[in-house]
Amino acid sequence: MVDVDGNVILDMFAQFSSTPVGYNNPTLLQAIEENQSMFVNRPALGNLPPKDWAERLKNSLLSVSPRGLNQVVTMACGSCSNENAFKAMFMAYRRRERGGNNYSLEEMESCLKNEAPGCSDLSILSFYGANHGRTMGSLAATHTKWAHKLDFPTVDWPFADFPKLKYPLEEYVDENRKEEERSLGQVCDLIEKYNKKGRHVVGVAVEPIQAEGGDNYASPEFFRALQRICKQNGCYLLVDEVQTGMGSTGSMWQHETWGLDTPPDAVSFSKKMMTGGFYYSDELRPSEGYRVFNTWMGDPGRVVLLEALIKVVKQEELLRNVTRSGQTLLQGVMSLQNEYPHLLSNARGSGAFLAIDGSSGSFRDTLAVRLRNAGLHTGVCGPRTLRFRPMLIYREKHAFIALDIMRDTVREMNDKVW
Ligand SMILES: Cc1ncc(COP(=O)(O)O)c(C=O)c1O
Repeated sequence: MVDVDGNVILDMFAQFSSTPVGYNNPTLLQAIEENQSMFVNRPALGNLPPKDWAERLKNSLLSVSPRGLNQVVTMACGSCSNENAFKAMFMAYRRRERGGNNYSLEEMESCLKNEAPGCSDLSILSFYGANHGRTMGSLAATHTKWAHKLDFPTVDWPFADFPKLKYPLEEYVDENRKEEERSLGQVCDLIEKYNKKGRHVVGVAVEPIQAEGGDNYASPEFFRALQRICKQNGCYLLVDEVQTGMGSTGSMWQHETWGLDTPPDAVSFSKKMMTGGFYYSDELRPSEGYRVFNTWMGDPGRVVLLEALIKVVKQEELLRNVTRSGQTLLQGVMSLQNEYPHLLSNARGSGAFLAIDGSSGSFRDTLAVRLRNAGLHTGVCGPRTLRFRPMLIYREKHAFIALDIMRDTVREMNDKVW
């Protein structure tokens, strides 16, 4: 990446984790050339999809769909993907409650005035530290920074503690299991509490790795137990793969590494997937048109790019590459943390989705700025975490460049107490 002053920077944050195969990828550029009319003549997809739309979806989104989910809808961004997934969950839940009966006239009229019984008091449970987006509905399930939420009206939806695990995970198995049980206990209590007070929990939204909140991990057992709790309580499970989807963890979908008995009810995506949207089960399919709807419903041009991207990922075996280069980078930051344990700790990662904690927020912030000035662009998240979001095309040599810059910068910062 070259900035406005002409500095050449290794981009390990990739437009907030959203650039999959680098800038000006030739296969993607060619896809634009070959499909120019898709980019110039943008259809209102919900009403007027192009005639080959179904085929396009089969060749792109449906060719990489999570196991067991064969319904998909496109959206413009991560926030509106989650927001519409919430709506799909609310509709399916109310359909179940109505037992197949139609809506009453009273319901149809009252909802227009923001009143019951048409508007429900149902809720979505999410976790402290979660980021599910910044539109008003998705924001109600987001708990990251006050700047995202201050001044906006919202709804009373429950938050549970996301487990705060100790790293390296393999050294703290028992402690971490107890911490996860505590968090799961809270989920159960909150569902009971909210159901009792008439704000029934319809769905649970969770990120596979809580990203904006500080790259917080939980074990596959945690997620399997969470799904069991959802099933026991008649809630749907929405896995928000907006940041983890499309390979950066070494798997196309991180939740597929959990060994769930059945697929989640919905999986949202955006960022590296080029288009927003969500996959969902048959049960979540709305029974009428226009209920999950907007004018653009995403952008077919982005789906053209996704089709080209999938070709690149497969041809260049990029998932395998991510695992290899991610391992090199992780080993490197781990040895750096061993050299400077008073400054760096908790190196952790999955594939090339990596993070390390600084000794304080101010150390981390200064480190990020100095790294950038030295030619390495990284991201920050949580109170004191530095995150790496390399692109899928990065090889081991890029990891070595990043590690050289990290080592020099941390060494320079070692002369000061932070
Ligand atoms: C896990 C997750 N969900 C949802 C969102 C919101 O996506 P967008 O910014 O495209 O609305 C983000 C954005 O960072 C995210 O990381």
